[in-house]
Amino acid sequence: MTTKTFLTGAAMGLALMLSTPVMAQAPDPFPPGEGHDTVVKACVQCHGAEVITGSGKSREEWTTTVSTMVSNGATVSEADFGKVVDYLAKSFPPK
Ligand code: HEC
Repeated sequence: MTTKTFLTGAAMGLALMLSTPVMAQAPDPFPPGEGHDTVVKACVQCHGAEVITGSGKSREEWTTTVSTMVSNGATVSEADFGKVVDYLAKSFPPK
């Protein structure tokens, strides 16, 4: 390997390294809004966000889903329950 090839490779590696953090920073899949933080905290420990962002449900359906998730083991306090359902119903309506 010549010095020039090595340097080119090193420069490319460096460029890749520098650009990686930006690319690795996955955009927040959850739209902003009231309840966002609670949902992020309570809902992505067991499955990916795409299980949620990929679905669309009515308020009633989200209420059922959140109840199911709570019985699955999700930690949503009674005080947060309505906020979580509101957020999901508003952000992920039926498709
Ligand atoms: C303790 C683990 C756990 C947590 C925390 C959790 N889930 Fe789930 N989730 C599951 C499991 C297991 C399944 C697949 C089986 C099922 O449907 O119950 C699932 C499936 C789903 C599905 C696909 C099935 C459906 O009903 O449409 C959605 C949507 C969902 N979860 C949303 C949520 C939301 C919203 C939260 C936050 C309130 C949440 N999950 C938190 C375990 C969890």
